[in-house]
Parts: sequence; C-alpha cells; structure tokens
Amino acid sequence: MSVKKFAKESAVIMTEMVLPNDTNTLNNLMGGKLMHWMDVVAAIAAQKHSNSIVVTASADNISFQQPIALGNVVTLKAQVTRAFKSSMEVIIEVIAEDIPANKKIITNRAFFTFVAV
Ligand SMILES: CC(C)(COP(=O)(O)OP(=O)(O)OC[C@H]1O[C@@H](n2cnc3c(N)ncnc32)[C@H](O)[C@@H]1OP(=O)(O)O)[C@@H](O)C(=O)NCCC(=O)NCCS
Repeated sequence: MSVKKFAKESAVIMTEMVLPNDTNTLNNLMGGKLMHWMDVVAAIAAQKHSNSIVVTASADNISFQQPIALGNVVTLKAQVTRAFKSSMEVIIEVIAEDIPANKKIITNRAFFTFVAV
C-alpha cells in the first residue's frame, strides 16, 4: 500500500448479462447474484489499488430499489474512495440496461470495505 495511486487508476468496470440461471421465480436478477458481482468488481478494484490480495471485511447497507430483469445488461463500476493503512473503502454503482428499450437505470450503490492481507 506504499505506492501512491489515483483512484481512477484502479477503477474497474464489469459488464454482465442476466441469464436464466441468475434469476428468481419472477424472472428478475437474484439479490445474492448481484451481491456476488458487486463483491467481485470491488475486490478487483481494491486488489489493483493495493497490489495485494484482499478480503471483504464489510459491506454497508445494500438496498434493491429496482428489479433487474432477465436479459438486462448490468454494468458494475467500482472505485476506491478511501485508503487507510491496510483497508480500503470502495464504492460500487450498478447500472441496469434494457438494450431493446434503450433504457438505463442506476439500481444500486453501496460501499464495501476490503483489507489487504
Ligand atoms: C478482515 C480481517 C482480515 C481483519 O483482520 P484483523 O486481524 O481483525 O485485522 P486488524 O484488527 O489488524 O485490522 C486490519 C484492518 O482491517 C480493518 N477492519 C477489520 N475488521 C473490519 C471490518 N469488519 N470492517 C471494516 N474494516 C475492518 C481495520 O480497521 C484495519 O484497517 P487499517 O489497517 O486500514 O487501519 C479478518 O477479520 C478476516 O480475515 N475476516 C474474514 C474475511 C473474509 O474471509 N471475507 C470473506 C467473507 S466470508
């Protein structure tokens, strides 16, 4: 964690598509699947930032304001917002896109904390 780095240098953008195996019985994305993607994208940003292996230490309140439908394309953006001694706070923004309808909505924002080990 000694090399100075701008947050933009370790920012990560990940794109996924909601497939049938990712959905609940209403054909919307399962919350747990989205949390998995959020954890992965944020961990990559923290790893890039610290040049270390990181573990998830905590996740703040995650609320699901909008369902994400089967077939939607989900873009997850993660960026380190603060780095401490060995821990890093990372913001994750989730955008769901219905490509045929040309509609994009921000569905979630959350902060996760990772610790470099
Ligand atoms: C996170 C973990 C490495 C912290 O270990 P620890 O021995 O308690 O660490 P320390 O008390 O020395 O603290 C190390 C850093 O972690 C931070 N930290 C520890 N627990 C934390 C928590 N729950 N939330 C946020 N930060 C935390 C401390 O603030 C400290 O930050 P700093 O170095 O920037 O000042 C340890 O609890 C762990 O391995 N947890 C399991 C992680 C894991 O497996 N995650 C996957 C989910 S199952």
